[in-house]
Amino acid sequence: MALLFLSQLDRAAPWQERLRRHLPDLDVRLWPDAGDADAITMALVFQPPAGALKRFSNLKAIFSLGAGVDGILVDPQLPDVPVCRMVDRRLTASMAEYILLATLRVHRGFDMTQQAQAARRWQFQPPIPPEEFTVGFLGLGELGSAAALKLSANGYRVLGWSRRPKTVEGIVCHSGEGGLDPVLSAADLIVCLLPATPATDGILNRNLFRRMKPGAHLVNVGRGAHLVEDDLIPALDEGLLSGATLDVFQEEPLPAEHPFWGDLRICITPHLSGFTDPETAVELVVENIRRLQDGRPLLHVVDRGRGY
Ligand code: NDP
Ligand code: OXD
Repeated sequence: MALLFLSQLDRAAPWQERLRRHLPDLDVRLWPDAGDADAITMALVFQPPAGALKRFSNLKAIFSLGAGVDGILVDPQLPDVPVCRMVDRRLTASMAEYILLATLRVHRGFDMTQQAQAARRWQFQPPIPPEEFTVGFLGLGELGSAAALKLSANGYRVLGWSRRPKTVEGIVCHSGEGGLDPVLSAADLIVCLLPATPATDGILNRNLFRRMKPGAHLVNVGRGAHLVEDDLIPALDEGLLSGATLDVFQEEPLPAEHPFWGDLRICITPHLSGFTDPETAVELVVENIRRLQDGRPLLHVVDRGRGY
């Protein structure tokens, strides 16, 4: 049984070291030097090139280095084996921390003072208490619920939206088609933590901005595919939105000529909101390798039909 490591973003060495620590006998191969393709039974991947996995005819499972699996499922030649997504406490904590920071920045007006500073303008606005600032989450899964709970613990009023009905203590939960507008219309800040699927592609568009509370702030930490990028600056110009915090983009790295770079109303971060730290994330991979070896059910297998 050999495991193929294939990521052009994650460094292989820290993963090799940690996998060896937990499973000293595991044969780890680094793509593209896979050796005998028939020996590969598992793949640990992030956004593998299309068709890269199809030649491993003995593959039994694919483990994702990321929580989002859109970059794996997009491959039309993906072998028909279980795909397990990443769920990890440090990844969850780093995402919740980023969203708290983005929320505090807007709630305490740092987004506005930064723009005022660029114009050398002294602009005072009295702060409002967090209880009067509402945050709405699109996506209340592993990451969305944890971040929602963190904001609620910091005093914010928090609403959430998911596909199926859900209960999260202290969070006002809505679901399905009819549940979106109550969240959009009430929130001062909307966080997108949806997976990228055919149902959510382009969901952050002009029509949705019109349904949001006028002048609300948008935080996109889901995927670049969620945002119709051409709709954002016109929505800011019209005052539908007051600003945006974007961690994910249709093209990454964001090209130097992209208009978002020069717009002070947009805060750009380079896809760093949720970080997969091999130190803790290796635990799920090791557990799933042991389960595969023992013939037990794997953890966090995604529904390929649903796309997440
Ligand atoms: P989960 O699968 O745990 O949660 C997804 C949530 O989205 C669920 O609440 C789900 O509803 C909801 N959802 C999915 N489709 C729809 C829909 N059509 N309508 C309404 N709600 C929907 O995923 P995670 O929380 O672990 O991760 C979410 C995403 O965050 C990832 O897919 C990835 O794209 C992104 N991400 C970004 C990172 C970054 O660094 N920027 C890092 C990690 C993840 P239900 O509960 O009913 O299933
Ligand atoms: C992820 C990511 O999906 O890093 O985990 O974007």
